[in-house]
Amino acid sequence: MVNLFLPQLRHTLSLQAFGYQTSIDMSFYFYSACCFLIIFSKASTANDTISPSESLTDGMTLVSNDGSFALGFFSPGSSKNRYLGIWYNNIPIQTVVWVANRISPINDSTGLLKIEISGKLVLQVQNSTAVWSTNTTASVQNPVLQLLDSGNLVVRDRNDSNAENYLWQSFDYPSDTMLSGMKIGIDLRTDLNRRLSAWKNWDDPSPGDVVFGVELEGSPEIVLWKGLQKSSRSGLWNGNAFTGSPNYRSNPIFDYYFVSNENEVYYTYFLRNNSVKFRDVMNQTEIESQRYTWDPETQIWQLLITIPVDYCDRYGVCGPNGICDSNKLPVCQCLTGFRPKWPERWNTSDYSGGCIHSKPLNCQSGDGFIRIENVKTPDTTNSWVNRTMNLKECRARCLRNCSCMAYSNLDVTGGGSGCVLWFGDLIDIKQFNSDDQDLYIRVSASKTGTGSES
Ligand SMILES: *[C@@H]1O[C@H](CO)[C@@H](O)[C@H](O)[C@H]1NC(C)=O
Ligand SMILES: *[C@@H]1O[C@H](CO)[C@@H](O)[C@H](O)[C@H]1NC(C)=O
Ligand SMILES: *[C@@H]1O[C@H](CO)[C@@H](O)[C@H](O)[C@H]1NC(C)=O
Ligand SMILES: *[C@@H]1O[C@H](CO)[C@@H](O)[C@H](O)[C@H]1NC(C)=O
Ligand SMILES: *[C@@H]1O[C@H](CO)[C@@H](O)[C@H](O)[C@H]1NC(C)=O
Ligand SMILES: *[C@@H]1O[C@H](CO)[C@@H](O)[C@H](O)[C@H]1NC(C)=O
Ligand SMILES: *[C@@H]1O[C@H](CO)[C@@H](O)[C@H](O)[C@H]1NC(C)=O
Ligand SMILES: *[C@@H]1O[C@H](CO)[C@@H](O)[C@H](O)[C@H]1NC(C)=O
Ligand SMILES: *[C@@H]1O[C@H](CO)[C@@H](O)[C@H](O)[C@H]1NC(C)=O
Ligand SMILES: *[C@@H]1O[C@H](CO)[C@@H](O)[C@H](O)[C@H]1NC(C)=O
Repeated sequence: MVNLFLPQLRHTLSLQAFGYQTSIDMSFYFYSACCFLIIFSKASTANDTISPSESLTDGMTLVSNDGSFALGFFSPGSSKNRYLGIWYNNIPIQTVVWVANRISPINDSTGLLKIEISGKLVLQVQNSTAVWSTNTTASVQNPVLQLLDSGNLVVRDRNDSNAENYLWQSFDYPSDTMLSGMKIGIDLRTDLNRRLSAWKNWDDPSPGDVVFGVELEGSPEIVLWKGLQKSSRSGLWNGNAFTGSPNYRSNPIFDYYFVSNENEVYYTYFLRNNSVKFRDVMNQTEIESQRYTWDPETQIWQLLITIPVDYCDRYGVCGPNGICDSNKLPVCQCLTGFRPKWPERWNTSDYSGGCIHSKPLNCQSGDGFIRIENVKTPDTTNSWVNRTMNLKECRARCLRNCSCMAYSNLDVTGGGSGCVLWFGDLIDIKQFNSDDQDLYIRVSASKTGTGSES
């Protein structure tokens, strides 16, 4: 079984002065393949590293120690532009996971990557113009650039006894793909915001406007944006999982975590089996995050799951104070204690007006709360969090503030702890069949007699 993949192939052809044609005559194809194999076996002493005296030119690749990933120059789709990127090394479908010069394509084969004595990476053309560079400013003694088995391209000081003390790493500047071990989120100490953005299209890796990252406002959540609009959100992390994807907890492929403290807020996952090829990639046309695994038998990427998963994952589909339930018809309902704001439109499946309290609140003379179970928590843009308050204190706090419309525990593990308050309209709630997440919704006191008062 010969593994062929286009970047090296293009290079081999270019060496033979055939240019960058994408339609390749089969005889050249096999000829190239054989040359490529020779090149590959010559380089098979694992060249995963370059130092300041060396450079990587168009046609050369760095290959990670275990052979998983390669760094080199490639042309995407039918484009003739050259980009420096990282791809899976030992599969026959060119699958690029990172691109350095996303917005600065190189139009010929004179691209060259080098690492300066300062540890700065410079991608230049024609031996002079820098099209892309890093901003490393640390003082280093013996800098090297290394492609790790994880697909992370790192700059480190060879003289640093801690090999994981990276001066720069590509995982901090993601393109459209999240790999195992990558953090998506914000380092509050440095303001580094690691977000994924889709390629514009197959021919153009420059950033589209479908973006996946952490939203800090209110209480942190993960959001998929289309431009400035939220397209889908994760719901709060409740200690177990995101309330918007409770079923993910027990997936067989990866473990995932959400970390939120005074230093960092990020989402990350780790493969349970590092031999499995798995990637999470943004898709501009579908406006979704797609999770694929490589099937070694069929030699294709299997689409496992997308985000949004279903109609109810689309941001705010049922309008303010509506709740979306995929198992009901119509999928949009009003929250308990609410009725459609515009009943005629609601009956024609126009849910944009959302719902209003069926009985007006009376904050002064006393409101109460109704508990709804198994939900994705509402948008936290207008929310407030206290990590130590218990549910009773949380309720009292919400009751005291007339614009507080709902509350819940922040963490459902160990019997529940912490407090989240929501102010104003409740947006983007989804109903699940099972989940540990309760939400307490403010209603007129007379309404709570029938419901389950907290
Ligand atoms: C490959 O690695 C060896 C040892 O690290 C080094 O001497 C050699 O120059 C490298 N070759 C290339 C083409 O980078
Ligand atoms: C390639 O790009 C360089 C600038 O990087 C420009 O000067 C040159 O004209 C371009 N060549 C072609 C054929 O577009
Ligand atoms: C490229 O740069 C090297 C070192 O900076 C220099 O020796 C060489 O002459 C340059 N080549 C061209 C074609 O400018
Ligand atoms: C270098 O810094 C600039 C400004 O802070 C930033 O926009 C750019 O993305 C950085 N480049 C890299 C490769 O980190
Ligand atoms: C870095 O380490 C190498 C050996 O690994 C040594 O020869 C060199 O002197 C060291 N450089 C500095 C500046 O410490
Ligand atoms: C986006 O997803 C669709 C459907 O899965 C797929 O056909 C298309 O190739 C993807 N586009 C890119 C640029 O990955
Ligand atoms: C890990 O995945 C590889 C490739 O799919 C498989 O051959 C191996 O058995 C798996 N290992 C474990 C412990 O599941
Ligand atoms: C909406 O539909 C329901 C059920 O079909 C019906 O009872 C109600 O009268 C309708 N309301 C309006 C305003 O059309
Ligand atoms: C959070 O709640 C605890 C316990 O009720 C309280 O001592 C603390 O001041 C609260 N923190 C904030 C920021 O309100
Ligand atoms: C209620 O909470 C909102 C949002 O935190 C705040 O702006 C407002 O001042 C609070 N009102 C009272 C009476 O505490």
